[in-house]
Amino acid sequence: MPTTTTTATVTVFLLLLLFLSGTGIPLSSAAPIPGLDSFLTQQSRIDPKSTKDPFPSLPSSLKKSLSSSSPGHLHIPSLISSLLSLSVPIPLHVRLVGPDFTSSSLLTSFLQSSVTSSHFHLISTPSPSQHSLSVTHSLHLDVSSSPSSLSSSLSAAISSALSASPSSLRSPLLSISYTTVDSIISRHFDSEKSDNSVYIYILNLGVKSKQPYAYSYYHADSSAGYTNCLGTLWTGNKRYLWIDLGAGPVDYGPALSGDGVLPRGEFHPLAALHGGPKSDKALLSEFASLIYSAYQVLVVPPLRIPVHFESSLIVQLIHIHASGSEDLTGLDWNMIEKSFRNEANDGGGLLFGNQSLEFKKYSIKYEECSICSFAISRSTNSFTSRFLFDNYTLIVSEYLDSKRLHQILSDSAEEFRRVAGLQEEEFGSRVLPVYVFDLDIHTILLLDRYHQTIAFRDMVIAVRTKTAQTVSDYSCNGRHVFTRTRELQRPLVGAILQSMWGVSPTHLIWSPTHKSTLVDYTWSVGQTPFGPFSEVSSLSFVQKDAARRNFILTSLNYSVTSAIDVLESVDAHGGDRNLLKQKQYVEFIQRWHLFRYKLDKTVSALSHYDFEMAFYYLKSSDHDLYAIHDLVYTASQEIEASLVCFKDPPFPWAALSFSAAGFLALSYVYAKRDRLFRNKRKQF
Ligand SMILES: *[C@@H]1O[C@H](CO)[C@@H](O)[C@H](O)[C@H]1NC(C)=O
Ligand SMILES: *[C@@H]1O[C@H](CO)[C@@H](O)[C@H](O)[C@H]1NC(C)=O
Ligand SMILES: *[C@@H]1O[C@H](CO)[C@@H](O)[C@H](O)[C@H]1NC(C)=O
Repeated sequence: MPTTTTTATVTVFLLLLLFLSGTGIPLSSAAPIPGLDSFLTQQSRIDPKSTKDPFPSLPSSLKKSLSSSSPGHLHIPSLISSLLSLSVPIPLHVRLVGPDFTSSSLLTSFLQSSVTSSHFHLISTPSPSQHSLSVTHSLHLDVSSSPSSLSSSLSAAISSALSASPSSLRSPLLSISYTTVDSIISRHFDSEKSDNSVYIYILNLGVKSKQPYAYSYYHADSSAGYTNCLGTLWTGNKRYLWIDLGAGPVDYGPALSGDGVLPRGEFHPLAALHGGPKSDKALLSEFASLIYSAYQVLVVPPLRIPVHFESSLIVQLIHIHASGSEDLTGLDWNMIEKSFRNEANDGGGLLFGNQSLEFKKYSIKYEECSICSFAISRSTNSFTSRFLFDNYTLIVSEYLDSKRLHQILSDSAEEFRRVAGLQEEEFGSRVLPVYVFDLDIHTILLLDRYHQTIAFRDMVIAVRTKTAQTVSDYSCNGRHVFTRTRELQRPLVGAILQSMWGVSPTHLIWSPTHKSTLVDYTWSVGQTPFGPFSEVSSLSFVQKDAARRNFILTSLNYSVTSAIDVLESVDAHGGDRNLLKQKQYVEFIQRWHLFRYKLDKTVSALSHYDFEMAFYYLKSSDHDLYAIHDLVYTASQEIEASLVCFKDPPFPWAALSFSAAGFLALSYVYAKRDRLFRNKRKQF
């Protein structure tokens, strides 16, 4: 039977891939050099930030193996293409939980056919065409069924939570706490995980319930679930995510129209089990599309902006408020700081090694700050909308134009520095000013009509007024979502994550097919600090991993670009043998192989979520890159100098004077032509 054969082949192929990914990924084309690995591992322990170049202390035997590993010429184009084909293998474990799952191999083959290796993407770039980084990622999938003990304990927990939950007339959904499921999954994850990789639990438990149910995400630090948007999934603090397909259907998205609708019913894979009966195959293809979406958005999310590494990060919180009252409810700096600190301190956090993170608070009285009121009045715009009351009434409302505000704040940075008494930060730290305009007015004033905060590359702007709430343009499970306009903590956490760490909001991805940013709110419930549907401001593994991965990817891309530059320059000088003298040549080859080796190690560490190691190898490869640039620069200077001294032909004075004389003679004849020829004419 042909289908079985293909499935079998695909499975064997996958097993092979998994085997390869499990046993250290073969990335380097050159033969491994014995001893190099242990030498560098030891160096990484002595000097984890790689402040010193390890090359001089490299044993000479290792240097010899480095230079002998590629005899003959370097073929520059193939070196460049090998640099451009760095690919991070991403292991992903999918666990099917429940008695009704049939075939996991079919799911695997569906996914394998939809997922090809793809570049890491950037949402905002300085140049509009460059949304792809040079580094790619490739999915290495492992699908299996979980033991029935897990599904029976989950079913029991859900059933008992359901029977304890009072049914409500106001809502079609029974609500149970996400912790019912999460505590069990989290324990199972701890017992199962074998390596650092992401686990997705898909629950299809077949729990019988008198009414549809979904999960509520009341969080300890949120005041009794205001939005109370129920969902069917949760992204953990640790690297796992679960989706209960038996829960729901839920819907959340724009209230009337707009991008990112999450439709109720059978069109969205989250609702795959609801609606009419479907064939197994149709169901599995929907699960596959759900898993693929989770992979793209949560496991390899795009970078919001490129972010460069600095050893010290400073957030300047600048509160601009009416004099007399500095009301900090809804704007508790310590809560904001805690969201990051919690993550920064518990090891698997946002920072590398001993990178430091500081929050500095400043306050400005609006009345004493003329530039502040100028900025606000210059950026205020109005829009009109029609409402039907007794008759159609035209309503004019105001909003702040964030781009103009940003421009004014950038232009008057010095003035702000003076007014707020901002300290001069030392060189080599990344400083992010966060301007919070706390205005003493009683109307709604949002940024660009809809936003409480906006993250720019170089600053965050937030605004609030005395009004407490407004109805947003979003709805969740049939009800409008309200925005509490004085609550800025969660929006600020999200905005700082975007500007400081380049973390993308959970609802944005870059689509190379559409060449634009797509909006999809599927993953915007539960633990995410982004979007209007969640109340939670703590970070899940998605944001924590993205924060550190973004630094690594940005500088890896930079190294690749810079290495290509130097190779092209070698090529322009007629190739390595031509440019470099014997002694330089040997060092060049050694440095080059070491550089490539370290890049491969970076990629492999990235694939195992070992960000510290990836960071070490990348930092360490900078020394080699610098040395290569230096060698090539010196050699090309020597070549150019020798050209000037010996190779230039002597200046052709003779030829030049001859032609100059000829030219002068001709001009003379031309100027005098009338006289010369007239004389001749007269003779005839
Ligand atoms: C990191 O640690 C080193 C010593 O291990 C120290 O010299 C350096 O100042 C620290 N950097 C930061 C940003 O804390
Ligand atoms: C519309 O209704 C308001 C009261 O709701 C009234 O004051 C106004 O005159 C009406 N306008 C027109 C054009 O009928
Ligand atoms: C990433 O690298 C590619 C290839 O070298 C380069 O074209 C691109 O501009 C780089 N992008 C960024 C943001 O540095």
